[in-house]
This record gives sequence, C-alpha cells and structure tokens, in this order.
Amino acid sequence: MATVPVLLADGTRRLRAPAEARTLLAHALGVEPARLALVHEVPPDAAGAYAALVERRAAGEPVQYLTGRAWFRTVEVGVGPGVFIPRPETELMTGWAIDRLAALPGDPVVVELCAGSGAISAAIAAERPGCRQYAVELSPIAARVAEQNLAGSGVALVEGDMAEALGELDGTVDLVIANPPYIPLEAWEQVAVDVRTHEPEVALFSGADGLDALRVVARVAKRLLRPGGFVCAEHAEVQGGSVVDVFAAAGGYSQVADHPDLNDRPRYVTAVRAGKLAG
Ligand SMILES: C[S@@+](CC[C@H](N)C(=O)[O-])C[C@H]1O[C@@H](n2cnc3c(N)ncnc32)[C@H](O)[C@@H]1O
Repeated sequence: MATVPVLLADGTRRLRAPAEARTLLAHALGVEPARLALVHEVPPDAAGAYAALVERRAAGEPVQYLTGRAWFRTVEVGVGPGVFIPRPETELMTGWAIDRLAALPGDPVVVELCAGSGAISAAIAAERPGCRQYAVELSPIAARVAEQNLAGSGVALVEGDMAEALGELDGTVDLVIANPPYIPLEAWEQVAVDVRTHEPEVALFSGADGLDALRVVARVAKRLLRPGGFVCAEHAEVQGGSVVDVFAAAGGYSQVADHPDLNDRPRYVTAVRAGKLAG
C-alpha cells in the first residue's frame, strides 16, 4: 500500500505545489491536512482518487473546485463551478467593514452586493454577530451556493440584480460592502488561463473599462445608505484613481478614500454617505 510521504512527493513533483498536494491528499482521504501525519498507509481507492485529483489540478482546475471548499478569514464556505472563489485580497476590506460595524451600537443593517458564495457575509455574521444582514447575488448558481453557506447565519439572501435590489431598505442601511466584477473586457488575455477557463465570466468582467458594476455599486449604495452610513468596494489594482472618481462623480458621498491590500496595492474604496443625520 502507498504511504503519505510517497504520494505527497509524487503530487508535489507533478504540481510543483506541496500545499496543493497536501490539500488534495487530505481531501481524498477525508481528513484535515493537519492529520495527514497520523495516516500510515493510504488505501488503494483513496490513492486512486488522489491521483485523479492531481491530474485535474495539473490540467488547471482550481483546488477549491476540486475540494468544494474555500477559507475566507474565519469561515469555510462551499464553492464549485459557476461560483467565484473568495480571494485573500478581499479579507482586508471585510476587516475594514467589521471594524466599522464593531463601533456601531445595536443591530446595524448590512447589505452585501455581488455576494457570490456569500463568504463576506458569512465572515461578518461570524465576527460581528447581531447585524441585520442581506446579501444580493445575480447568478442563480452562486445564489444557491450562498444560500447553503449562509443557512443558519441569519443573513437574508436575495437573488437578483443589485441595481434593483432591496428598495424597501432605501435610506436605512448602515453599511454596504461589495466585491463586484471589475476586469475590463479587453483585459481578457491578461487574466490567468485557469481563472478565465474555470471561473464564471459574470464574476470577473464588467464593461470596457471594468468599472460598469462599480458605477452601479456607487449608485445603489447611495440609495440604500442612511446619512453617515459606510460603503466599501473592491477594485483592480490599476483602478485606485478611477474608482475614487466614480464615487466622487456619483455625488452624495464624503470621505471618499482608497486603501491598499496586504501587498500594498490599491484595492478598495471607502466612502461615507453625506447628508443630515437624524436627531
Ligand atoms: C468577484 S465576484 C465576488 C463574489 C464574493 N463577494 C467574493 O468576494 O468572493 C462578483 C459576484 O458578483 C455577481 N454579480 C455580477 N453582476 C451582478 C449584479 N448586477 N447584481 C448582483 N450580483 C452580480 C457575480 O455573479 C459574482 O458572484
């Protein structure tokens, strides 16, 4: 029978990625990667399943689609073909939002636009319990997955176009967060082959300059937010200046500012809804 070290060495040689080999072997065995050291021999069916997973990964399928799971901040969510895989770049913006919400009393109202798997909303629910949360997603496939990921979290999932969503909340929302599609259509060739082959186009591309969805986010957040409410939205690293212009041009915002990600690249814009505070 094959052993874990031998199979890991085989997978690492094929993938040139030891962490991916570990993840796939653990998945084939049905154990957490940290417990691989406790496995002495790998049964033939698990070794065969692992070999097949390694070949699919070598052919470009994302690891997260092969295991069906992805980590985001403090939560693990289900993902699969047709659903955007949550990225580490988005974690910092989500932390910014959680910090704003932690400073608000009571049960703030939070709307996530372009929710995908629901990872951002799930992290907010886990890390700042007590918010009244809504998550909006256009793709029926992603919406089904988000519904499963958010089951029991109290987050209400709305399937539909963010442009028209949640009119009943207009002027009452404390925080809007979005990681919308933002790659320019003309940049298709620059997108990693694995990404453009396997992840859904509706999650990636947004018009000639990549800013179409961000313009909608600026407009919808302005409609939803109460005076003093916060918005944050992710963008591509080359869009730091243009996204600030989009929010400034939308009107109705103050303190429009851009922020870097963990690699110090421009990554998300934040703004405060201007207007007279009640009371
Ligand atoms: C970049 S993915 C982000 C997913 C998730 N928020 C995350 O960070 O992992 C963008 C998501 O926006 C959704 N989307 C695109 N256009 C939309 C629209 N007009 N209204 C609502 N969702 C939309 C896509 O289907 C996709 O799931």
